[in-house]
Amino acid sequence: MPTTRRIVDLLRHGQPDESVTIKGWVRTKREQKEFSFVEVNDGSSLAGLQVVVNQEVPGYAETIKRINTGASVEISGTLVESPAKGQRVELKAASIAVYGEADPETYPLQKKRHSFEFLRDIGHLRSRTNTLSAVFRVRNAASTAIHQFFQERGFLWVHTPIISASDCEGAGEMFTVTGFDLKKVPLTAEQGVDFSKDFFGKHAYLTVSGQLEAEIMAMAFSNVYTFGPTFRAENSNTSRHLAEFWMVEPEMAFCDLEGDMDLAEAFLKYIFKYVLETCPEDMEFFNQRIDNSVLATADNIINNEFARVTYTEAIALLEKASKTFEYPVEWGLDLQSEHERYLAEEHFKKPTIVTDYPAKIKAFYMRLNDDENTVRAMDILAPKIGEIIGGSQREERLDVLERRIQAQGLDLAEYWWYLDLRRYGTVPHAGFGLGFERLVQFLTGMSNIRDVIPFPRAPLDVEF
Ligand code: 4AD
Ligand code: MG
Repeated sequence: MPTTRRIVDLLRHGQPDESVTIKGWVRTKREQKEFSFVEVNDGSSLAGLQVVVNQEVPGYAETIKRINTGASVEISGTLVESPAKGQRVELKAASIAVYGEADPETYPLQKKRHSFEFLRDIGHLRSRTNTLSAVFRVRNAASTAIHQFFQERGFLWVHTPIISASDCEGAGEMFTVTGFDLKKVPLTAEQGVDFSKDFFGKHAYLTVSGQLEAEIMAMAFSNVYTFGPTFRAENSNTSRHLAEFWMVEPEMAFCDLEGDMDLAEAFLKYIFKYVLETCPEDMEFFNQRIDNSVLATADNIINNEFARVTYTEAIALLEKASKTFEYPVEWGLDLQSEHERYLAEEHFKKPTIVTDYPAKIKAFYMRLNDDENTVRAMDILAPKIGEIIGGSQREERLDVLERRIQAQGLDLAEYWWYLDLRRYGTVPHAGFGLGFERLVQFLTGMSNIRDVIPFPRAPLDVEF
């Protein structure tokens, strides 16, 4: 049996007269009198391969009836130079095997453009469309770039747990993991749930971040990163929030906030460059069909330094803005997405790093500044998206950390191991978290986060 060739390889390097076999799904069929054109796509590239099927193919009339849009086929034949523009070669079929037909009366993907809302309802089929397949190729390239970036720099990839007993962000937005029979949940004397009788012997959750465990590993390996799913039970039905999303979290020992920001900036530049180089057709497609600033944005990221301002400076800029905001601007309040977008999109017109936020709106683990009022936090705000990265220098001083945990109403005893890291060989260290889906939105210009992950999980949304 001849080896199957990937369509992307044939489009790029295939030579006339080569005998090849392809396998894939029919995108379109155009029947002429004597022959038909069939476009086959195997997911390896945006463009499919055009196949010319003529009467010499055994069982022509019967076969051509069976291969409608959506059908799966194996086609062997010879590559020939293509007279059509935009493709070097096409395939002259010698034989066709149909694996599975697709009834044209019921197959939901028609040739016309479908809305992304409609495509979300057919999540099991939408990856066969141009846009979603381009998104998932870019997603794959960005993942590869992430590993390559860290591996080139000697970072160890560590696997942090998905089930956790601690709330890293202290925001209480966690999904419970339980082994209880929900009809007979044991109660304590105070009528609370008695988690000591649960599977793990205490209240367990799906993790919101791998950071605390990454800090443990950084205290042994110096530079580490995680790349895995994280979960948030915040009930936000927005185009930038998911209940399950992927996060990349580097953590570096012997590093301060400047080093953290420099790494984050180099990291984003690296990913954009890698994706442009490895997925040029897909990126061109996004620029043409989704958002005509995609390529300019990529160029801007790669070639310009990010803006850097403190939170206090950012508040002053927002107060001076001629724009009216829906949410109040006031020192001490968190920045809302409209504020973040104003800074990155309208004021600086490039990614903007905001540092030194008020301590009381940030997590307990961020290093307290000498003013005792602000912490060494940094958020990277992207045009159109807002916060894409959140990071900080960590509080490495035991006494300060204990105070901060208590000030936020958290239980010191729960963090015993985290505090131990400050007892034994503590060092200044820093890290950040990149929301991977927000990055893919940033790369592709896709406006809804549910369209950059194959199977989105969001409030009332867990099909597929
Ligand atoms: O800012 P966050 O909450 O930071 C942390 O979790 C830190 N522990 C990271 C660290 O320092 N190691 O989340 C990091 C990023 C955000 O900037 C955002 O891009 C993304 O994760 N994110 C979400 N993405 C999609 N859906 C959600 N519900 C998200 N919540 C946060
Ligand atoms: Mg954040």
